[in-house]
Amino acid sequence: MDSKRRQLIAGISLAGAGFVINACRRTSNSGSASNKSDEPAPGEAAPVEVTAAEDLMREHGILRRALLVYRESAIRLRQDASSVPPEVLEKAAVLFRVFGEDYHEKNLEEVYILPVVKNLPGVAAGYVDVLMNQHTRGREITDYFLSITKAERIPSNSVETVAKALESFARMYEHHAAIEDTVVFPAWKDAIGQAEFDEVGGKFEEIEHQTFGDDGFEAALKRMEDIETSLGLSNLDMFTAPLPTK
Ligand SMILES: [Fe+2]
Ligand SMILES: [Fe+2]
Repeated sequence: MDSKRRQLIAGISLAGAGFVINACRRTSNSGSASNKSDEPAPGEAAPVEVTAAEDLMREHGILRRALLVYRESAIRLRQDASSVPPEVLEKAAVLFRVFGEDYHEKNLEEVYILPVVKNLPGVAAGYVDVLMNQHTRGREITDYFLSITKAERIPSNSVETVAKALESFARMYEHHAAIEDTVVFPAWKDAIGQAEFDEVGGKFEEIEHQTFGDDGFEAALKRMEDIETSLGLSNLDMFTAPLPTK
């Protein structure tokens, strides 16, 4: 049984090249996600370039969907721990590790963005140390998730600890990504100027190809959708807020 679980993990690790991130660099005006070539299909609009900042924010979109899985899992764990299969949480944690922590943070933000922003005048620089600390804390908590989900079931005496960790992780990263999107990335873009911004976009593309090969963003998105589906979270309308009642 454990070997089967390990096979599942292997299937979502990058080692097997089953999870790659590329298509975030370009998108079709038609909205088609199936055309993996740079050449548009007959009748399709030409692909448009996606800037580095857009790319980073799309990556945040994938991570936010993982955070939704974490929040919903915390609620369900408290109601009925058996309703959250550990392997599904494990898949979400691996996705966050590979796509968020190792690629988005270590390869992009910590190399190209945060060192620049730290030396800028203004409020953005004041966030950098906290953001770095939160990257570190996030990795520590992901280590915990990967450890606790190795078992066939989450032990009943660990349910509340896991639920709290899922919630606090989501709370941290929701705010973390929002500050990056609204303060840090715009300050970085303003500081480096258009020419360097375009050049860095090309570097990001190279890093993506080196790290993941082709079709990476689409693969990450598909992985996220599969996780949501396995927990019954794939219907957006289920999250439409009810009107307040007395
Ligand atoms: Fe970050
Ligand atoms: Fe980020």
